Amino acid sequence: MAKKTYPLSKVYRLLEPGLVVLVTTAHKDKVNIMTQSWHTMMEFEPPLVGCVISGRNHSFNALVATRECVLNIPSVELAKQVVGIGNCSGKKVDKFKKFKLTPLPASQVEPPLIAECYANLECKVADTWMVNKYNFFVLEVIKAWIDPAMKNPRTLHHQGKGVFMVGGRHDQAAFQNGMSDVAPHDFYRFYNNHALGNSE
Ligand SMILES: Cc1cc2nc3c(=O)[nH]c(=O)nc-3n(C[C@H](O)[C@H](O)[C@H](O)COP(=O)(O)O)c2cc1C
Repeated sequence: MAKKTYPLSKVYRLLEPGLVVLVTTAHKDKVNIMTQSWHTMMEFEPPLVGCVISGRNHSFNALVATRECVLNIPSVELAKQVVGIGNCSGKKVDKFKKFKLTPLPASQVEPPLIAECYANLECKVADTWMVNKYNFFVLEVIKAWIDPAMKNPRTLHHQGKGVFMVGGRHDQAAFQNGMSDVAPHDFYRFYNNHALGNSE
């Protein structure tokens, strides 16, 4: 089959980096949340995570000033909040209040965990040498939490332009047996905080 060229401006949509996280920060008595999808694992142990946070975001300034954050991992049930949180700024909005999320105290850092997320990673900034040039922070996870009551959480993966792939069907045996009728992912489209349903 003949290949066709693909716009460079859309390359990021082919390489979606992983599940969407909600980054909490705390700075000058203000706690904040930011939606983030551009991150990558860099080391097993201690776990290092690299992430890009735009210099235009309130979260960028908070992270530079405090060097602490929590990466909270939401499941698909929080999709509307994930989109809403990623489309407004903590400069103007109290996002915990607006999106009805519950802050829980972290054990090692100031920013809170989000109770409704199934996993929470307390992080310290480990390296800033690429922040000036690329807004790229290297975080070390120093404490990790998981909600044992949430079995097989279905994760959100942003593919750009409000399209999310929903992952998390743990049907490993079926894949090992070569069954082809198991669809591992669903696609959903969200826009302006409204779920528009399956996009396929
Ligand atoms: C699905 C999704 C993923 C996003 N990923 C990132 C990201 O990786 N890095 C980033 O800087 N902004 C990202 N954003 C945009 C920020 O969440 C957005 O600019 C937010 O308003 C920043 O909030 P703040 O000013 O309170 O920090 C994303 C938004 C959405 C909806």
